[in-house]
Amino acid sequence: MTEIWSPPLPISDKDEPLYEAIIRALGNDIGSGKLAADARLPTHREMADILGIAIGTVTRAYTEAERRGLIRSEGRRGTFVGATKGPSALSRIMDQESSLIDLSRNEAPHTADPSLALALKIIARQPDSQRLLRYTPVPGLIHHREAGARWLSRHGLQTNADSVIIAAGAQHALFTIFSAILEPGDTLATDQFAYPGLMTIADRLRIQLVSVAGDNEGMLPDALRTAWRRRKVRTLYCNPTLHNPTNVVVSKARRAALAEVADDLGLNIVEDEIFRPLLPDPPPLVSSLVPHRSCLVMSVSKTITPGLRVGYVVPPPDWRPKIVDALQSGMLNVPSLTSEIVAGWILDGTADKVIARRREELAWRHGLLEATLPGLSVHPNPHSCHAWLQLPERWNCTQFSMEAQRRGVVVAPAEMFAVERPTSINAIRLSVGAAESRESLQAGLVILAGILERLGRPHAPSV
Ligand SMILES: Cc1ncc(COP(=O)(O)O)c(C=O)c1O
Repeated sequence: MTEIWSPPLPISDKDEPLYEAIIRALGNDIGSGKLAADARLPTHREMADILGIAIGTVTRAYTEAERRGLIRSEGRRGTFVGATKGPSALSRIMDQESSLIDLSRNEAPHTADPSLALALKIIARQPDSQRLLRYTPVPGLIHHREAGARWLSRHGLQTNADSVIIAAGAQHALFTIFSAILEPGDTLATDQFAYPGLMTIADRLRIQLVSVAGDNEGMLPDALRTAWRRRKVRTLYCNPTLHNPTNVVVSKARRAALAEVADDLGLNIVEDEIFRPLLPDPPPLVSSLVPHRSCLVMSVSKTITPGLRVGYVVPPPDWRPKIVDALQSGMLNVPSLTSEIVAGWILDGTADKVIARRREELAWRHGLLEATLPGLSVHPNPHSCHAWLQLPERWNCTQFSMEAQRRGVVVAPAEMFAVERPTSINAIRLSVGAAESRESLQAGLVILAGILERLGRPHAPSV
């Protein structure tokens, strides 16, 4: 480290203890890569002088940051970025942790959830709340669609209530769209990896998934052309922002190139932007580039809450009747109580505040991840709910996941996401957002770090 590190000033607002603010700043800078693994930190005295605070506060911050696995003290040598290695930390955590730590579900941290009790109280006070007990028009009540349009406009698609359809989350939206626009046996192109829910939809509707090669910027336009020619692809599903599981954010230029190819070939696009609001300044939506052939899907599951099952669909006008029909045969209409709660949060600013808190918590958690398992993240992004970790060659990702589960931590191996199997990619998806608390994430990561430190494969039979 050439320059001495210090947290950005001022380090704390009045509600946050100073030592927590220092830990948060450490987490953020480790997560963003500003502080590299093994970088030396200022001594307690130096930090106290820089910040003009008591040395005891710095000691408390460093002790707690070490307990959370962000940094380590090496006695007289000083304090460094990264967790203490070795069996002592591992066995300490193993002793404390008896139940499974599930880092396999892709979720945002629930520590930032909005208050349901407050939302219900506000609704109960409304004079016409009894209306929520009735059937609604199939696409949803107009003021729920208006709130949806407001949310979508805030996140990149200028639209209006008449263009929006409310669905019960993105999974329901995608199932409804594909059942409306595809026939059994049709082919749907997507990236080489996809979230497992897409595979279940394709199986159920008997749609063939075709994987299209990509690079760090996203799907390759030429590979899409080839898939169109050779595999008779007519529709493309993409998840261009913080892709699940690889975390790729498709670049602006690549989005434009893909939109151009789609337009040229007459391909329809279903764009799933479920993670988009987590990323500050994402590139433009593909749907905003070719709105006449793109259907945008967004839900509030990764940003506000998955439990209320609210999602928004904006199809091209000529798909709309088919999608509304499919929605009607599936569930008549989405429950209006949940849409009412979400609309309230969008309109009163709660949704934005929750997202800001989630971003901060996710950045902290990615800091912890990078400090504990340095250098494994592919396309690391402090705003993502998950990380895609490339394992060292000596570990096969399936065996690694089995060993992790045996030791109490659940992660998801690459095959779960491979659109066409087998895959040669040796990676796992680890959801930093899924851990119930920072402490449980730390415990899980330390266990994984302990497994990675071991050479060879576990429990291989000798004959
Ligand atoms: C890319 C992607 N799309 C859709 C979904 C389904 O989301 P929802 O909970 O809104 O149904 C998920 C859930 O993990 C996802 O990762």
